[in-house]
Amino acid sequence: MRRLLLVNGPNLNLLGVREPHIYGTDTLGDVERVTTDAAASRGFEVRAVQSNHEGVLIDAIHAAREDCAGIVINPAGLTHTSVVLADALKAVALPVAEVHISDVGSRESFRQVSYVRDLAAVHVIGQGIAGYAQAALRLIDVIAGQAEG
Ligand code: DQA
Repeated sequence: MRRLLLVNGPNLNLLGVREPHIYGTDTLGDVERVTTDAAASRGFEVRAVQSNHEGVLIDAIHAAREDCAGIVINPAGLTHTSVVLADALKAVALPVAEVHISDVGSRESFRQVSYVRDLAAVHVIGQGIAGYAQAALRLIDVIAGQAEG
């Protein structure tokens, strides 16, 4: 299955207009394009989902069991709060890349907590939307390593 699931959490539909001094002016469409192009360079497809609703994200993660080899996820604010999203990622047991556009490590203290950190094989933090391309490529390396191994 040469397909990745790309998951973007709440408020990332407003990329481009949302706090551009923090998140830049690129849009969600740009995020999906850079991720898709990076994956395509290694022969992988991308299925993209963005939702402001936790349950929609969880259903998409569950469905990935059927036809995806890994998950690139920016859980947005749910990073710092959501046990159920982390549980869904653990349940499907696919390799995960955690992405954050901003450098969460240098922001508010509540952003220092990540329920996803420990279960993700790849972390790309504070690289802007280019971080999604890095995350997809590094995740594909992990998937390739598992296939060999
Ligand atoms: C974010 C960082 C989160 O703290 C925030 O809630 C977001 C976006 C990022 O990409 O930098 O919505 O995940």
